[in-house]
Parts: sequence; structure tokens; C-alpha cells
Amino acid sequence: MAHFVKPSHLLLFVFFLSSLESILATRREGEGEALVKWKNSLAPSSFLDSWSLTNLDNLCNWTGITCNSAGSVTEINLFGKKLDGRLSEFGFTSFPNLNNLTLADNFFLGPIPPAIENLTQLQYLDLSFNYLDGPIPFQNLFKGSIPLDIRNLKLLESINLGSNQLVGPLSMLISNLTNLKMVGLSDNRFFGKIPSDFLKNLPSLHVIDLSNNNLSGNIPREYNVHPILEYINLSGNHLTGLLLPQYILFSFCMLH
Ligand SMILES: *[C@@H]1O[C@H](CO)[C@@H](O)[C@H](O)[C@H]1NC(C)=O
Ligand SMILES: *[C@@H]1O[C@H](CO)[C@@H](O)[C@H](O)[C@H]1NC(C)=O
Ligand SMILES: *[C@@H]1O[C@H](CO)[C@@H](O)[C@H](O)[C@H]1NC(C)=O
Ligand SMILES: *[C@@H]1O[C@H](CO)[C@@H](O)[C@H](O)[C@H]1NC(C)=O
Ligand SMILES: *[C@@H]1O[C@H](CO)[C@@H](O)[C@H](O)[C@H]1NC(C)=O
Ligand SMILES: *[C@@H]1O[C@H](CO)[C@@H](O)[C@H](O)[C@H]1NC(C)=O
Repeated sequence: MAHFVKPSHLLLFVFFLSSLESILATRREGEGEALVKWKNSLAPSSFLDSWSLTNLDNLCNWTGITCNSAGSVTEINLFGKKLDGRLSEFGFTSFPNLNNLTLADNFFLGPIPPAIENLTQLQYLDLSFNYLDGPIPFQNLFKGSIPLDIRNLKLLESINLGSNQLVGPLSMLISNLTNLKMVGLSDNRFFGKIPSDFLKNLPSLHVIDLSNNNLSGNIPREYNVHPILEYINLSGNHLTGLLLPQYILFSFCMLH
């Protein structure tokens, strides 16, 4: 039996489809434009030739870019491309679905902008082997003005900021990022004591590398009782104290 769709419904449906399409197109365009804006702030690189406003339709095929099935950017991977510039023009608010940002092994310099907190879907962040300086901006997440369930990096599982020139105390830096499994902060200039509750709110932590910084004081007792920590490297600091022997079986603790 023939089934007739009321014309008004059909119209509504067509309208729905076309607005969906324009929403998707707007999103693509917003993401592509943000990438081009950032590209234009960097030293010219042929690696980014496909990143162009005349090529927005191919955003998901731009070098280093991966999208989801809706055409929204989920991964930016620019590992080791000799890119030179700052993160200040990076459109941190423009990528609602970005879960993997890998900018390791380039010549990025300057601070990590606090706006990075707007990457709400970020799970994997690798900014290691660059020339980034200043403090880690994540303290700003914990000032209380921002509702905890939005606008923060709580999905973050892996963060590697190793081999930069970051400074500052570690206090509260990454506490309460409860999904963190891997933390790499080696070869920077973090100083001061390791707060005793530093690991308390990181129940998922497997790996933490704080080697080659300027940390001092006692190794917090919590390091001995953390349930699943497998690897900890504190060498190249000015720390005192020891990890418990059974713990060392599963970890690598080297002092001085
Ligand atoms: C993606 O770009 C490559 C070259 O960079 C090209 O060979 C390929 O056809 C493009 N794929 C699509 C789907 O546009
Ligand atoms: C993130 O991207 C990098 C570079 O492509 C890759 O090595 C890494 O496995 C990715 N991580 C996840 C969790 O997808
Ligand atoms: C995050 O994005 C919002 C909206 O664009 C903006 O108002 C806020 O300042 C951003 N956060 C930071 C820390 O810049
Ligand atoms: C971090 O976690 C601790 C312990 O659960 C809690 O007391 C504190 O309020 C949390 N901080 C923020 C900013 O949510
Ligand atoms: C190490 O930290 C101390 C303060 O705790 C500071 O006085 C000293 O200059 C730092 N050294 C380096 C090499 O950053
Ligand atoms: C600990 O870190 C130091 C300095 O980064 C490195 O040389 C050493 O190999 C690391 N130790 C282990 C057991 O991974």
C-alpha cells in the first residue's frame, strides 16, 4: 500500500536536512578557518600547503588532520614537522571534538595559553620537545569560577610536556584530572616541593616522569601507596627520601 507523506512534513524534513547540512558546513568552516588562522601566524611551511581557505571542503584530508564521520576534527598530529611559531593563535575554542593534539618535536615557543581548557574532549596531549615556557596554565581550571563538568580537561588521559622550558611549582597543577594515566613533565624547570596530595586525586595514574627538573624536599609518602603506579622517574632533581622496596620492583626510582 502506498504511503503518502504530507507535503508539509516533507518540506519540514527537507528544511531539517538542509539546516543540518549548513550546521555541519559551518562547523567544518569554523575549524578549517581556525587552522588557517593559526597557520598564518607560524613561519611558512610547505607541510601545511593543504591548509588553505580555498581548500576548506577537503579539511578532513588536510595533512595532519583526522575527522569523525560528521566531518569535525578529532585529531591534529603535527609531530616533528619543524614548525616554528606560537600557540597563542591556536583556536582552542574552535575544536569541540578534538581528542588528540600532538605537536611534539617542533620549534613551538612561548606559553601554553590558558584557553587550552576549552578543548573539552581532549584525551591525549603531547607538546613535548618544543621551546614552550612559562607555567602550565591548568591552575586556572581549579579556581572555582568554572563549573567542573564543562570547560575543563577532565577527559585527559595522557599529557606529555617533557623537554620544554616550563617553570613553576607543581602544586595543584594536575590534581583532579582524574582520568590521567600518563604524565610526562621531565626536562623542564619545575621547582619547589612535590605536594603531598599531588597524586591523591590521580587514581588512574600509571606513569609519571618528573625527571630533570628542579624539585626539592621529601618524596611524598603517597608515592609508596598509590594503587597502580607502574613507573615513576624522579631522577635529576634535589629530592630526598625513598620509595618502599616492594614498590621499586615495579618502578624505576632514581634519585640524583
Ligand atoms: C587527499 O589528498 C591526497 C594528496 O594529499 C590525494 O591524493 C587524495 O586523493 C585526497 N583524498 C580525497 C578524498 O580528497
Ligand atoms: C594520538 O596521536 C598520536 C600521533 O598520531 C598517536 O601516536 C597516538 O597513539 C594517538 N593517541 C591516541 C590515544 O589516539
Ligand atoms: C574558553 O572559551 C570561552 C568562550 O570562547 C572564553 O570566553 C574563555 O575565555 C576561554 N577560556 C580561556 C581560559 O581563555
Ligand atoms: C579536587 O579534589 C579534592 C578532593 O576530592 C577536592 O577537595 C577539591 O575541591 C577538588 N578541587 C576542585 C577544584 O574541584
Ligand atoms: C631551582 O629552584 C630554586 C628555588 O627552589 C631556585 O633558587 C634556583 O634558581 C632554581 N635553579 C634552576 C637551575 O632553575
Ligand atoms: C629516568 O630519567 C632520566 C632522565 O630523564 C633518564 O636518563 C633515565 O633513563 C630514566 N630512567 C629510567 C629507568 O627510565
